[in-house]
Amino acid sequence: MSKVTVVGAGNVGATCANVLVTQGIADEVVLIDIKEGLSEGKAMDIMQTANILNLDTRLTGVTNDYEKTAGSDVVVITSGIPRKPGMTREELIGVNAGIVKSVTDNVLKYSPNAIIVCVSNPMDTMTYLIHKTSGLPKNRIIGMGGALDSARFKYFLSVALGANPNEIEGIVIGGHGDTTMIPLVRYAAYRGIPASTLMPAEQLEKVAADTMVGGATLTKLLGTSAWYAPGAAAAQVVGAVIGDQKKLISCSALLEGEYGEKDLCIGVPCILGKNGIEKIVEFDLNEEEKELFRKSAEAVHKTNSALSC
Ligand SMILES: NC(=O)c1ccc[n+]([C@@H]2O[C@H](COP(=O)([O-])OP(=O)(O)OC[C@H]3O[C@@H](n4cnc5c(N)ncnc54)[C@H](O)[C@@H]3O)[C@@H](O)[C@H]2O)c1
Repeated sequence: MSKVTVVGAGNVGATCANVLVTQGIADEVVLIDIKEGLSEGKAMDIMQTANILNLDTRLTGVTNDYEKTAGSDVVVITSGIPRKPGMTREELIGVNAGIVKSVTDNVLKYSPNAIIVCVSNPMDTMTYLIHKTSGLPKNRIIGMGGALDSARFKYFLSVALGANPNEIEGIVIGGHGDTTMIPLVRYAAYRGIPASTLMPAEQLEKVAADTMVGGATLTKLLGTSAWYAPGAAAAQVVGAVIGDQKKLISCSALLEGEYGEKDLCIGVPCILGKNGIEKIVEFDLNEEEKELFRKSAEAVHKTNSALSC
């Protein structure tokens, strides 16, 4: 029996819960929020699709009652405020740090063995905050950002190539920020064929640029930050852990010398399995990519310095 808790029944949390249920990723899902009735309502709405969609997962919604989350294998933290048009993810740090810290304390009280998936922004810094304050081993703290950014990269590649997104390879590493993420264009491929041989350099550069502002573009269109792909990407990470899938997914992980950096959480290729981050895979970066990663790490360190822990 697998149990997953999703904290925050807002746009991203409810979408994540919906994907967990509709794809049967966990046997039991608990959706929890501080807003009275919100998680109960969203859970009931989702569960009313059970008969239509032939679903087996049990989803319940609770208001701030952490006892109901007891014994969770994985906890996804989406609680906090999202950005509005024109805002950066980094501007959310003040409010979200307090929320993420108190939520982590609460979930670990009832699920001391859980693997934590942090979604709240600024995600790399919130993931680092959990490291600093929870005392959990580093493999049990996963930041979700690279899974989403890589999905967006593959989407834009597929549009440029007129191809099926499922046949595209692409990964984004570095910080989860508009200027800090690094779409690894050199490793992007269509059915194993380097994307750089299939389109002009300027087009590939535009794909990378569109990826980097992918979140901001949607925030402008929607008036708040996106949720379908973020929720699905969080569920993908949960599925890799619950299913012990050993999938390579870009996640924010604590570095201790990997990629030449330490004492920060930042997006790197990770193998995910039942123990959480089971391995950080070190890609062979060229000098230009190494410099981009160094700059990205510098920016994440700077945001981390605003934390009071
Ligand atoms: N990492 C990523 O790739 C990624 C992608 C999209 C959004 N995000 C971030 O995810 C977070 C959620 O975004 P959203 O669009 O779902 O926002 P939202 O406002 O729709 O939902 C947030 C929910 O958190 C709840 N909440 C606030 N404080 C809480 C607490 N202490 N305990 C429990 N619940 C609490 C709110 O009541 C609200 O329902 C934001 O910080 C956003 O920036 C991250």
